[in-house]
Amino acid sequence: MENVKHFLQGLQLDSQCGSTVLVTGATACLAGALVLLARTVDGRRAAGRKIQKAKKLREDGLLRANQAVLHYKQSHPKMDSALVLSLSMDELTEKLQGDLLTPEDVFYSYMEKALSVDKKLNCCTAILLESFDQLKTLDPNKRGPLYGVPVSIKDNIAYKNYDSTCGLLTNVDHPAKSDSVIVEVLKRQGAIPFVKTNVPQGLLSYECSNVIYGQTVNPHNLQKTSGGSSGGEGALIGGGGSLLGIGSDIGGSIRIPAAFCGFCALKPTAGRLSSRGVSSASPGQKSVRSSPGPMAKDVDSLALCMQALLCDHMFDLDPTVPPVSFNVQTYRSSKPLRIGYIESDCLTQATPSMIRSMREVKALLEQAGHTLVPYTPPKMNYAFELIVKGILADGAYTLLQNLKGGPLDPCLKIQVRPYYLPIWLKKTLSFLLKPLSPRGSFLLESITGVGSIPKLWKQHAAVEEYIQETLAEWRKCNMDVLLCPMFGPAFNLTYCSRLSFPLSFTAIYNLLNFPAGVVPVSTVTAEDEDELRHYRGYFQDHWDKLFQKAVSGGQGLPMAVQCVAPPWQDELCLRFMKEVEELVKQSRK
Ligand SMILES: *[C@@H]1O[C@H](CO)[C@@H](O)[C@H](O)[C@H]1NC(C)=O
Repeated sequence: MENVKHFLQGLQLDSQCGSTVLVTGATACLAGALVLLARTVDGRRAAGRKIQKAKKLREDGLLRANQAVLHYKQSHPKMDSALVLSLSMDELTEKLQGDLLTPEDVFYSYMEKALSVDKKLNCCTAILLESFDQLKTLDPNKRGPLYGVPVSIKDNIAYKNYDSTCGLLTNVDHPAKSDSVIVEVLKRQGAIPFVKTNVPQGLLSYECSNVIYGQTVNPHNLQKTSGGSSGGEGALIGGGGSLLGIGSDIGGSIRIPAAFCGFCALKPTAGRLSSRGVSSASPGQKSVRSSPGPMAKDVDSLALCMQALLCDHMFDLDPTVPPVSFNVQTYRSSKPLRIGYIESDCLTQATPSMIRSMREVKALLEQAGHTLVPYTPPKMNYAFELIVKGILADGAYTLLQNLKGGPLDPCLKIQVRPYYLPIWLKKTLSFLLKPLSPRGSFLLESITGVGSIPKLWKQHAAVEEYIQETLAEWRKCNMDVLLCPMFGPAFNLTYCSRLSFPLSFTAIYNLLNFPAGVVPVSTVTAEDEDELRHYRGYFQDHWDKLFQKAVSGGQGLPMAVQCVAPPWQDELCLRFMKEVEELVKQSRK
């Protein structure tokens, strides 16, 4: 700064012998520019310091957890962590409830495994050190249904004294003042939240990378993404470092990582579980609903988690949640179902592995005595427009505000760059592009924001109308549930931010607010990979080619299907998922 002052003083001397006005103007401009430059440099430094601090905090936690694990193993040489890690949730909880396993053995086995998975996949943002204390004070006389079960939670789910960064620098060093309702209830039911997991910068992406904690990758192939936004959960659970996790889903954020990493997950009806203390990328956005939900190795674990969460304690802590406990009867029912099925949607042609997975599951369900009826969702193009317009109704203002004060993650750049254009330019470009690239034109138009409050109300009304139209279609087909493709397999790194169209497969159920879950049913075969070479897509444009590239080289990667039920029928959705899971398991025998 001293240099700057001298420089400016020198200029003022000059002004005595020349045109005062001109130089004063120039001085002001220069001073302004220099202050701006100084601020940018200052800002960069501050961002760097923040990143370092957050990283150090994470490293310290990892170190302490490592030491604790080592210490425990030395003093408990008989601990059989391989056995613990091999148990299903059902087996594990039974052993814990019957004192055949100690919560300590389970906790340290999973902590050790989580640390090693994190080393490989970079999926944890924090070790919740309080979990060591919670373990000590666990009351064996009050055993909740999740007694002694370690649970991982996504970064944006508040845990007292820890940041919910949402992958954003602005949120670093703002630790939560209290636990989220979900964490409180989990603890009350005996579960031990033990780690927080990584997310994309700003949560609005289905890749998992940010400038604070870096990129999370897929447990089955390190060249592939773990998906997002609950991508840390995806990698950790898929890698075997956790058997139950809590994520959140606004366009597929729970379902995509679970499908990409090969396990089950449920996006419940938004409003069924409490969202208090769950940070969102765009609070106040009401068109496309976000919902927290469970992610786990099998469907029974999801059901157990839902049952544990849907209790009086949650209804007391958050009376805005309907006090409806878990309907075990619906979950256990074996009444034959009428199942609608979709083979593809009209925005993204399904890949060969998606089509094969769907056909196999459909055949299994038919053999098991269910009735399958073809179903076409009404007006998919229009619905997708409602989704994008809804999520970015503010013209991405909130997201861009959130992204201030730090560098942009490379994985987000291509997605976010057009958001910065002024509205008039987006509109003009969209108009000019229309004949050349209808989909490019559509994308630009859909990020202009809705514009005014009357238009926002119109958007909300249109969403309500679309929900009713869909329900009418379901009634016409007399469907109980819906089977649909889940896009996949896992994408190559950095492709997600360039490809928003595949999200129509998942985001439509956020728009409709129907519960939806994924179940792994297959893996990509050599034949699928061969056939993929002939994939053209419906539009044969830039995005279709990108999609083909994104899923290429996926042999052996997990493939899933999506199971959907009407609003508030979360138990029916889980029952349907369980049925698919069982049938696939039997068919492999
Ligand atoms: C995508 O990744 C796979 C697996 O690592 C690789 O075989 C394939 O060539 C990649 N495709 C593209 C287009 O980069």
